[in-house]
Amino acid sequence: MTKKTYYISTPIYYPSSNLHIGHTYCTVMADAMARFKRLCGYDVMFLTGTDEHGQKIQKIADEKGITPQEHVDEIVSGIKELWKTMEISYDDFIRTTEPRHVKRVQYIFNKMYEKGDIYKGEYEGWYCTPCEAFWTETQAVDGKCPDCGRPVEKAKESAYFFKLSKYQDRLIDLFENNPEFLQPDTRRNEMISFAKQGLEDLCISRSSFDWGIKVPIDEKHVIYVWLDALSNYITALGYPDDPEKYDKYWPCDVHLVGKEIVRFHSIIWPAMLMSLDLPLPKKVLGHGWLLLEGGKMSKSKGNVVDPVALIDRYGVDALKYFLLREYTFGQDGLFTNEVMLNRMNFDLANDLGNLVSRTVAMIEKYNDGTIPAVKGDGEFDADLKEIAIGAASKVEANMNKFAFSQALEEIWILVRRTNKYIDETMPWVLAKDESTKDRLDTVLHNLCESIRIISILIYPFMHTTSKEIRKQLGIWYADVEWKDAFVFDMLGMEKVKKGKAIFPRLDIEKELEELEAMKPSAQPDEPPTQFKEEITIEDFDKIDLKVGEILECKKHPKADKLLVSKVKIGTDTRQIVSGVAKHYTPEQMVGKKVIVVANLKPIKLRGEESKGMILFADNKDKLEFVTTEAQNGNNVQ
Ligand code: ME8
Ligand code: MG
Repeated sequence: MTKKTYYISTPIYYPSSNLHIGHTYCTVMADAMARFKRLCGYDVMFLTGTDEHGQKIQKIADEKGITPQEHVDEIVSGIKELWKTMEISYDDFIRTTEPRHVKRVQYIFNKMYEKGDIYKGEYEGWYCTPCEAFWTETQAVDGKCPDCGRPVEKAKESAYFFKLSKYQDRLIDLFENNPEFLQPDTRRNEMISFAKQGLEDLCISRSSFDWGIKVPIDEKHVIYVWLDALSNYITALGYPDDPEKYDKYWPCDVHLVGKEIVRFHSIIWPAMLMSLDLPLPKKVLGHGWLLLEGGKMSKSKGNVVDPVALIDRYGVDALKYFLLREYTFGQDGLFTNEVMLNRMNFDLANDLGNLVSRTVAMIEKYNDGTIPAVKGDGEFDADLKEIAIGAASKVEANMNKFAFSQALEEIWILVRRTNKYIDETMPWVLAKDESTKDRLDTVLHNLCESIRIISILIYPFMHTTSKEIRKQLGIWYADVEWKDAFVFDMLGMEKVKKGKAIFPRLDIEKELEELEAMKPSAQPDEPPTQFKEEITIEDFDKIDLKVGEILECKKHPKADKLLVSKVKIGTDTRQIVSGVAKHYTPEQMVGKKVIVVANLKPIKLRGEESKGMILFADNKDKLEFVTTEAQNGNNVQ
């Protein structure tokens, strides 16, 4: 019998810089789901990767003075290292700079073009580089990106367009008649109203920079990074030239994405697939954001939480547990060290860790380390068993709704019930009296059964801990199988083996202090550099910039703020008045070689003629000389 397939994807992240806990959160959810489905017998395809083209990456590489390829290679190797440390069980990792992706994206572009869905035109509007998103005048209110609130830039360039408007009705239909396609409902409603406002054709090429996949029919253009990126979900499967995996796994069961990119996945991506006459993904699922007290984590704000630092201190499983247990899927959640440490201490060290160590210790002490067989039953047993064998289907039901937190809560109901069973049955009292040995055996046996079931249930979330528990219980030899979580009587005669505490207790006060000390000093939110409106080369050519030397300088007789200089420019010597008396003395001016706007219309400033302007750089409250080594009289162009 062929297995049922399950295909899940994460966004392919921008390798702009190292990933933070927000990206980790999404990937950890996808990993838990992939492991859960595998455990339930599915043939799983779990895809992740990196989105390496576009203006943002090019800009960053330019700033670093290296090539975009060098930049992404370095960051991507760090990302792969992180996923390795976190034991993320992806089946494929796609990089959009790989040849397999590039050639298939070009095929996709051609196919849409041949369909008649792509035409050439001129783009004029706004662009948000951090989001790599186009916005119209009305969308970019106050010159800000409606998604991230950062300033947008003017873009005007010749471009290819995709007839997105053509698919508007089909998309609205899809959202309205197939509510499962886009979840949660809040996101679906947003997209319905977005689409109903009218979808404009989408600009799908850029010609003002070149870090991208070339438009196959026009080498002067690169394909818009979102068209390139979204295609990864099928290019990674080999579409169209190596279709074995494509045939097997497409359509995707779920694209797991953050809420800010739901629009790209539920409007642009399905429209592309409609244009290609391909089936649509079964589901797009938008998760919420992890927030810090200062707002959304953002690399530019410097307020990010580094997963590596947390893993080093607390381990992979503790971090994964915290992320999956603390936050409600679909909603935003606040990240604080305190909440994290409390979860780790109470749920993991106290509840689960203690349960395992107490049980193993009692078996070593009261039964020479061998799990005893059941000898009848007694008070509390039925209740414990019912909760234990009922837990797996509750976990399943919640996992199928992506309710990771509730799924874990169901497991912890069993963990806590089992701890209570120890308090109720008091094995240390039973051990005092030979006549209650049978009851003691049954109690110890039941404790181990319950822990065995817990070890299966936690496997998708914390497989290392699951294995460690099974090692301590002496059942390391058996594969973890989901069906074994539904039965209570499997153990007999295994040898337990005490190991290290699976989750050591943390001194929360001390940890908080140390984490605080590790925090990178928060960088002030630097306002983005502002640029004036574009001018043409002809406009620029009108300005006569020349190298001049200040020969003499004095204070303006009538104005405190002004200095009056004699400036020699080539063979010409002239008087220029500058508003820099607050910043420089006349003595500091003399002898400086500067750049002068030489053809500025002469004016009189408080009675002194000024013919031209000396350039200064505006360093917040201080003006600085723009000095030069160039020859006096030279043109600056
Ligand atoms: O958008 N909280 O990449 P990206 C929760 N390359 N999740 C967060 C988060 C936070 N604070 N910050 C990031 C891109 N994420 C595109 C995707 S897909 C074809 C192209 C997660 O590097 C969340 O899943 O900006 C979000 O959607 C994703 O990282 C964005 O990563
Ligand atoms: Mg982003």
